[in-house]
Amino acid sequence: MIIAVDGPAAAGKGTLARRLAQHLDLPYLDTGLLYRAVGRRVLDAGADPADPAAAEAAAQALMPEDTARGDLRGPAQDEAASKVAAIPGVRAALLEFQRRFGQERGAVLDGRDIGTVVFPEAKVKLFVTAHPRERARRRHLEMLGRGQDATLEAVEAEMAARDARDAARDVAPLVPARDALLLDTTDLDAEAAFRRALALITGKSKLSA
Ligand code: CDP
Ligand code: CDP
Repeated sequence: MIIAVDGPAAAGKGTLARRLAQHLDLPYLDTGLLYRAVGRRVLDAGADPADPAAAEAAAQALMPEDTARGDLRGPAQDEAASKVAAIPGVRAALLEFQRRFGQERGAVLDGRDIGTVVFPEAKVKLFVTAHPRERARRRHLEMLGRGQDATLEAVEAEMAARDARDAARDVAPLVPARDALLLDTTDLDAEAAFRRALALITGKSKLSA
């Protein structure tokens, strides 16, 4: 059983995917961390995240433990992740790892292209969204919690630019799979979003039974 959870930044994908994984006793993979770790390696090397040669070398050298680093979140890391993620060679290098992770005993994976590219045959696909202002509010709060300084307006502008880049790229753009279930979490807290997702999943399996 593969559950794909895709959507734009700070929509609540990770929060929901983690709860679903726990509830269904499935492994969980935050695929955004893979792109963040590649971006981090490129930044550490003093290279440009938009440079295909540098980004592909970083993706090929990636170690699973790189995704456990504590310095993968923040405006520079967001931008670097999104830039390396637009490079086809980087996506190709990360694809096999994601598929192997899911194939062992099923999994919940969250990202941008899980339901469209990584596991197009996934049994359940959720596309999680929320109003941009609400997503910016959530990310801004997280940043303040980490001691990172920024205005809400700056967070919203950077997020809009990143979502636009993710949606406009040629390879694996951010777009709902045709068979994805849409979940808008603007007015839902994590618990309500989880219950709504379970209802959507149950409704779907009843329909297809
Ligand atoms: O994975 P993604 O970037 O889509 O979002 P997340 O990390 O799950 O959630 C971003 C922030 O919004 C976290 O601080 C969550 O606690 C919060 N959140 C929320 O306020 N309401 C939800 N329904 C889901 C998440
Ligand atoms: O937590 P948030 O939603 O802000 O970002 P993330 O899921 O950690 O992803 C960071 C960046 O990695 C995204 O902006 C995408 O450019 C890229 N990404 C991707 O292209 N495909 C995925 N499956 C996951 C992330």
